Amino acid sequence: MSRRQVFRKNKAVHLITLLLFAGQFVSCAAGTGVTPEVSLEPAPAPISIDKAGDDAKVLDVTNYYSRPENNNPRPGGGLAIFETENFIGSSRCAVCHELLVDSAGNDMSIPGHWRSTMMANAAKDPLWLAKVSSEVKRNPGLKKVIEEKCATCHMPMAWTQAYKQGGERVIFDNGLLSPQNDLHGAAMDGVSCSLCHQVQDENLGRKESFSGKFVIDTGGKAPERKIFGPYKDPVQKTMQQSVGYTPVFGSQMNDSALCAACHTLYTPFVDGQGNVAGEFPEQTPYLEWKYSDFGVNVENRYDIGENPGQGKICQECHMPHSEAGGVSIANWAPPEAEPKDHFSQHHFVGGNVFMLNILQDNIGSLQISASTDGIEDTKERTMHQLQNETASLSVVGLKHRGNEITAELKVDNKVGHKFPSGIPTRRTWIHLMVEDASGQVVFESGKPLADGSIEGNDADSDSMGYEKHYDEITRPDQVQIYEGIMLNTDNEVTFTLLRAAKYAKDNRLLPDGFDKTAVPADIGVFGMALSDGDFIGGSDQVTYRIDTSEHNGPFTITARLLFTPVSYSFVKDLAKDEDLPEVNRFMFLYRKADKMGQEVAAIRTTVQ
Ligand code: HEC
Ligand code: HEC
Ligand code: HEC
Ligand code: HEC
Ligand code: HEC
Repeated sequence: MSRRQVFRKNKAVHLITLLLFAGQFVSCAAGTGVTPEVSLEPAPAPISIDKAGDDAKVLDVTNYYSRPENNNPRPGGGLAIFETENFIGSSRCAVCHELLVDSAGNDMSIPGHWRSTMMANAAKDPLWLAKVSSEVKRNPGLKKVIEEKCATCHMPMAWTQAYKQGGERVIFDNGLLSPQNDLHGAAMDGVSCSLCHQVQDENLGRKESFSGKFVIDTGGKAPERKIFGPYKDPVQKTMQQSVGYTPVFGSQMNDSALCAACHTLYTPFVDGQGNVAGEFPEQTPYLEWKYSDFGVNVENRYDIGENPGQGKICQECHMPHSEAGGVSIANWAPPEAEPKDHFSQHHFVGGNVFMLNILQDNIGSLQISASTDGIEDTKERTMHQLQNETASLSVVGLKHRGNEITAELKVDNKVGHKFPSGIPTRRTWIHLMVEDASGQVVFESGKPLADGSIEGNDADSDSMGYEKHYDEITRPDQVQIYEGIMLNTDNEVTFTLLRAAKYAKDNRLLPDGFDKTAVPADIGVFGMALSDGDFIGGSDQVTYRIDTSEHNGPFTITARLLFTPVSYSFVKDLAKDEDLPEVNRFMFLYRKADKMGQEVAAIRTTVQ
């Protein structure tokens, strides 16, 4: 994209933002307290979620929301405008922290980048909601416990406020999801500005703060209550007078431990009788990072720009700096506010293109505040990260002797934690194909199918089976899949988070410097990968042996590394609860979505 195009695009973005602001001020003045829907076209009817299992009767909304390629960009709704005792809607911060540019003219708007991320949409995520309702159905005795647990990180402001007020933090019925609930606005703003920026430097990086146990000072009164930032001496009066917060330096903002509070999740699990029997390390990117080269060298926090070791904190990869610098961080600031060179962009991308597509295609019915263009930008950043910063493939050995090709493939992981990481619904796998001189397929392993399944993967055809980790593959029904497979207390494969007691298999690719024999069991390697000598920190090697009899060379070998955030086997299990409206809605969106997975790396070579 040329500079000129970027500039034009920014102008367009700004126009839309201004329109949205106008909408907010009008409704603030009117005191409606309702998020305004600024829409250029009549809003479509919401999709029906109460016609369980009956696809035909559900209104197809996807066509209302074309992709930008169709020249039909959509603006999305306004940002949240709520105000509770301790939190404030992202629209209020946007007034000053939007419309920012760096010295090269690139768009640095903070809410503009954030609003189309998965964190901004954590409470609107239809898969999350479907999974919460399914977990409740499968563990009815724990309904309240489950809902309150799930709200902690996906609706963290509402959860914290309700907790302080001594109220219930449930999601369904008249809970946080209901527009009638006082804290609904705070709930739907997801992981938002006034949450992250109020996290206190207490217990961070330790188990006491994991699983969403971040500390917010709910005793602070306006305007003394603090907003933590990365700079030592911010101008304070502007924010004190406008939003009633005092911006101050907080060293936790430049520390992975801040992210660890929500990105380290221990989930309690129950046995076959429904009794709580322990807790399971469901998500551990922070701990994986800590035991890698990325984490080891950053034991101590560092000031802006001075990274002492070879390490990298979460923010360095997930909030990349503006290369040009020179960003005035508020569009409305007194002259003493200096432009900053260490500006961190609120990109927060992982690998979830799948869900971003769903948000983009259903912007109205899911009440997304980002525009289709904004989501497109986040998708592009995600694809760029997956294709350039994630992993690479290489052929380290190749020969054709007699009737057998031996191809040794190496996968290198560049990520600062396991790949994939996070919730164990993510999977990465190798699709390898060998063709003969006439283009006929001699061998194929790991072919992605349109329904989201992987050909030959036992987990996709049989709910109790799964592919083991391979060091050598000789048959097409053997597939190298890097994933976590969970077992319940009866040693059966499970996808129910509240039943997961241990891993049967965890061969997710390890980050550089990670020693699988020395790390704590919570982030260990499970299954055959543990004894595979070339499955080590930073890489894995797999050897394919392919019978070429009855075919003529030269042979072309194509290998691809693919990623999907939501495995087919997980969805197949979730679909058992399609009588639930939330699951039915997700399945409706899933069936229409692109499920082929994202290509992370690819390589092609020939052998005589
Ligand atoms: C997930 C947590 C999180 C959320 C949500 C978040 N921020 Fe931040 N923000 C951070 C962190 C961490 C930094 C410091 C990053 C660094 O210095 O590397 C930061 C930095 C900033 C800065 C200083 C910018 C700079 O780097 O020069 C401003 C201003 C800011 N945030 C405003 C906002 C606003 C406004 C929102 C809501 C639209 C928001 N933040 C949402 C975590 C968050
Ligand atoms: C009326 C304008 C205005 C509003 C509204 C506003 N800010 Fe600010 N913000 C500023 C100014 C001005 C600065 C100081 C800039 C400087 O010193 O360079 C600032 C600084 C910051 C910093 C950096 C502090 C540091 O020490 O690093 C953060 C973080 C921040 N704001 C977050 C927020 C959040 C979150 C909200 C919403 C709750 C918000 N701001 C609302 C104007 C505003
Ligand atoms: C060296 C760069 C780097 C560092 C450091 C890093 N990440 Fe990542 N992260 C990535 C890349 C690249 C991806 C996309 C590939 C993937 O999905 O794992 C990613 C993906 C993720 C995901 C999505 C997981 C998934 O598999 O879908 C989460 C969540 C995440 N990171 C959180 C964190 C947290 C928390 C930290 C700090 C403890 C961190 N990251 C540190 C590079 C990094
Ligand atoms: C208050 C809890 C909370 C905090 C603090 C937090 N996150 Fe998140 N984060 C979430 C939740 C919840 C999601 C998942 C949203 C979803 O997919 O529905 C998420 C998702 C992500 C993703 C995945 C995006 C994708 O494409 O899959 C990345 C990357 C990420 N966060 C990075 C960070 C970083 C970096 C920090 C620290 C600066 C941080 N988060 C702090 C709760 C949090
Ligand atoms: C400690 C914070 C925390 C709690 C508590 C939590 N989550 Fe999450 N959740 C996250 C984070 C962080 C991610 C993103 C992980 C990633 O990108 O891999 C996430 C992602 C998800 C996703 C995947 C969303 C997508 O679009 O791919 C589902 C489903 C989910 N959570 C369900 C639940 C359920 C059900 C509960 C309650 C039992 C729950 N979560 C409780 C932090 C939390």
